Amino acid sequence: MSPAGKPAIVVTRKIAPAVEAEITAEFDARLNPDDTPMSVEALKEVMRTADAILPCVADKITAEIINTPGRKVRLIANYGVGFNNIDIAAAKAAGVAVSNTPEVLTEATADLAMTLLLMTARRAGEGERHLRGGHWTGWRPTHMMGTMATGKTLGLVGFGRIARAVTKKAHDGFGMKVIFHDPMVPAGSLGAEPRSTLEQVLGESDFVSLHCPALPETRHLMNAQRFSQMKKSGILINTARGDVVDEAALVASLKKGEIAGAGLDVYEREPAVTSELLSMENVVLLPHLGSATLETREAMGRRALENVRLFFSGAPLRDRVV
Ligand code: DGY
Repeated sequence: MSPAGKPAIVVTRKIAPAVEAEITAEFDARLNPDDTPMSVEALKEVMRTADAILPCVADKITAEIINTPGRKVRLIANYGVGFNNIDIAAAKAAGVAVSNTPEVLTEATADLAMTLLLMTARRAGEGERHLRGGHWTGWRPTHMMGTMATGKTLGLVGFGRIARAVTKKAHDGFGMKVIFHDPMVPAGSLGAEPRSTLEQVLGESDFVSLHCPALPETRHLMNAQRFSQMKKSGILINTARGDVVDEAALVASLKKGEIAGAGLDVYEREPAVTSELLSMENVVLLPHLGSATLETREAMGRRALENVRLFFSGAPLRDRVV
């Protein structure tokens, strides 16, 4: 607590000004106006001196940080729905509460999955580079032909909120047949049909879009064998987490022509992206923009703040992870 009796809240990165103003009005807010990434030492200092921390996906809140001697922080209110940046087992063992921000970024992330799907199918990144590079010589019937998304089959790996939002856009908007595999969801809805194995989804789909969380069980779910089970014309879309894809195996299967392309928003070693991926024309690469709309980022901040408020008022957390 600050001398004024308000809990001290550290926000690790610059967030929407309206939300920063609310945090400042209600708490002893410690903001990051320069938006400088925090070092391990700086995060440990936060653990020792603040009551709660609002980290984002880029802050690795490891067991070492959680177990900082003299830790004062009691709440890690993650600014994001995915929480693989936090060592949840260590938080649980230490009795530190963790919350996240579900729901508010569903539509934005689904929109970005569709953006990647369409960009990859229609060679939009390649086309823009071609034009900006001064290589366009004019319209011709065989120039830079892509593939249709409309009417094709979209396979979803996982059928949670974001996958369902993608289903509505792809099925209702683009007339796509949507199939999915999710061990937790046996029945279809919104026009999407379940498949009992991932392999069935991979084999039937023109586009495969990943919507599962990053867990030890989903690490490298998409590996060399799974890529070989996709159609040769198949396109992989990943707006989930980089760990779900074995990136080296993806590069190898793209090189071998086992799959036709990929649209990626997340990477195994963010912000590093391999030179091989960077050199491939049939790959669309975005810098983790899934939730990057003004509306969404503000809503994420408010949702994280709501969890902070609840925690310090002694009420149950709305979005408790542990
Ligand atoms: C999320 O919330 O999980 C998004 O990927 C942004 O971090």
